[in-house]
Amino acid sequence: MSEHPSIYADYRKKIDNLLSQSITRSLPVSLYDPLNYVLAGGGKRIRPMMVIFSCEAAGGSFDDAVNASVAMEMLHNFTLVHDDIMDNADTRRGEPTVHTKWNENVAILVGDQLIGLAYIYLLKTNSDNIRKITNAFTEGIIEVCEGQSFDKEYEERKDVTIEEYMMMIRKKTAKMLETSAAVGGLIGGGDEKFVGNVKEFALNTGLAFQIQDDLLDIIADEEEFGKKTGGDIIEGKKTYLLLKAFESAEDGADKELIKKIIDNNGLKDATDSDIDKVREVYVRSGAIESARKEIEKFTKLAEDCLEQLPANIGRERLKWLTEMLMNRSI
Ligand code: IPE
Ligand code: IPE
Ligand code: MG
Ligand code: MG
Ligand code: MG
Repeated sequence: MSEHPSIYADYRKKIDNLLSQSITRSLPVSLYDPLNYVLAGGGKRIRPMMVIFSCEAAGGSFDDAVNASVAMEMLHNFTLVHDDIMDNADTRRGEPTVHTKWNENVAILVGDQLIGLAYIYLLKTNSDNIRKITNAFTEGIIEVCEGQSFDKEYEERKDVTIEEYMMMIRKKTAKMLETSAAVGGLIGGGDEKFVGNVKEFALNTGLAFQIQDDLLDIIADEEEFGKKTGGDIIEGKKTYLLLKAFESAEDGADKELIKKIIDNNGLKDATDSDIDKVREVYVRSGAIESARKEIEKFTKLAEDCLEQLPANIGRERLKWLTEMLMNRSI
């Protein structure tokens, strides 16, 4: 049997422990209670894995990269807490979101605090490349903010193209994975060519990852996925599914339903049965099938990039990670 799942489980446990030990203060309670809640809330810990496996692929070790990997997860959690405010999301990882359980001001500060904490952990890294690493990390933050702004702008726009969508998800999602790979590769001492290839691998993995997130938003089991089914439809998100269905749905009722979502910037009062109807249109129009093909396409592109890296255990773990993500249901 492959050793990858047990390595993943082992690393995940270590990362979870470090995250829960990272909060050493308790006051103010209105900051540290929700902060603990977020960091203990689970999650797949994909970005830290990307940091560590990329470091290993470059010839470094788990210990070299672990602090930076924790930093990436903190940064990711900052984006989630703020994203849930922006997306009016009540549930994440199967539990109430921070702004729902507490309030929006709390959630804003928890997000801000996570950026500070992330830098504390990043700068524990021992590397001659620390300036480059910190730059890559900071560029990641800047691009996520750009991506999230495009995401919100597109809610209001009626003419978003699939090309614009790809640019937006590159920034809001793929960039964080790319940054994780860059940080890991640099810590491991990878040269420019190595870092370029591992970044491109992570970027393609990230594109597949967001298209799949869009897909799971409509086809996943709500309990298992831990987020509200159809949340993107309610909010009028320009997802791959919505744009593809608008392009491909037959004229008539199917096209009208998609057009209604676009014209009204979402289906704010949608019932479960309204969401079921949209899902049916996504199936009938071929949007679901097309999303699956895109996920496979970008996963394959990611794997091609890996071929450019030296063959070693780190590279194998990166390959396993991409495949695991493609087959996920959460
Ligand atoms: C959710 O990320 C946000 C997206 C970029 C789609 P994850 O699916 O990695 O969330 P967790 O950390 O595992 O909960
Ligand atoms: C994820 O987009 C992007 C970031 C969190 C930066 P989504 O809004 O689709 O993520 P989920 O579905 O809420 O996790
Ligand atoms: Mg969002
Ligand atoms: Mg969201
Ligand atoms: Mg989503």
